Amino acid sequence: MTEALASTPTPQGGAANLAIDIHTHYVPHGWPDLATSDEMTARGEWPWLRVETEHDAMIMLGTNEFRRIESDCWDAERRLADMDADGIDVQVVSPTPVFFSYGWDPIEADKVCRIFNDLALEICAPAPKRLLPFAQVPLQDTDAACREVERCKVNGHLGVEIGNHVGDRDLDDAGIIAFLQHCASIDMPVFVHPWDLPNSPRLDRWMAQWLTGMPAETHLSILALILGGGFDQLPADLRICFAHGGGSFAFWLGRVENAWHRRPDTIATSEHPPSHYLDRFSVDSAVFTEPALRLLIDTLGANRVMLGSDYPYPLGERPSGALIRSASGLDDSVRTALLGGNARVFLGPAAVDRLRQ
Ligand code: CO
Repeated sequence: MTEALASTPTPQGGAANLAIDIHTHYVPHGWPDLATSDEMTARGEWPWLRVETEHDAMIMLGTNEFRRIESDCWDAERRLADMDADGIDVQVVSPTPVFFSYGWDPIEADKVCRIFNDLALEICAPAPKRLLPFAQVPLQDTDAACREVERCKVNGHLGVEIGNHVGDRDLDDAGIIAFLQHCASIDMPVFVHPWDLPNSPRLDRWMAQWLTGMPAETHLSILALILGGGFDQLPADLRICFAHGGGSFAFWLGRVENAWHRRPDTIATSEHPPSHYLDRFSVDSAVFTEPALRLLIDTLGANRVMLGSDYPYPLGERPSGALIRSASGLDDSVRTALLGGNARVFLGPAAVDRLRQ
């Protein structure tokens, strides 16, 4: 790989104006056979990769085909070329949620996390200032999750991606709150991604799980941190971001606020009304239309929205950052903040130091 591709380009306006995509995913090109335990074999859902060609592969869950992917999932050189084409200086490279493994025995899940986290470092190694790895953790076991996020921080991961729930436990679950408190204490930012979506025959067409399930799930998880009292227990310096513009939340904040005041018997379960907590989290910009982006800025503030594309998956934005770059009515300082300034604050000192080197 050429040095020019791997090193940080100098954007117009200098290093402070880097365009940072905080929502991208990776899949390693291969990993050791995970179906070694009786439980995994019995359930028949262990993840593996059926490599079709040098550029194509199929994510398999046991004997079932889950998703066809291409080499942009694992090939740093191809990612960097796409980033250059899109005008993206830096990607946060997060796990693909199907590998979270929260439903597995914690010991097996811990093994999966360690394997994938170590492979993520290898994928990002060719361009340490442009590809910033985020870790995954066995969130079903709080102690193991805290241990793994610490190990990853030492090894060079700059944050952690978590799923928005663990089975029936939502983000206000005591164990998950303890993990989030730990992330705050060791200065690791958290990216929350919807996964393990509700299923029914009604959702089994038109990618309805992705089109309606993901926004609803993300909305529910933000409500769990608000109405479930999560934010009341979490330190204000926890840096946490929700994917896909925070799902349906911004559009329905008024409904939730009204409900909090009108049905205090069942809904006013947080110390303050929902609108009080809007400065406690961020969202990405993967909402595709100007009115939706404006709603996020108007609702959460221009310092709470960050460029996020969902690269390289087909429901993501390409070119990455196109909406922010083309949106009318954003002044230069807001556009710069959305493109990368807010991400620098979210990522924190460890990442900023690396980008500066
Ligand atoms: Co995504």
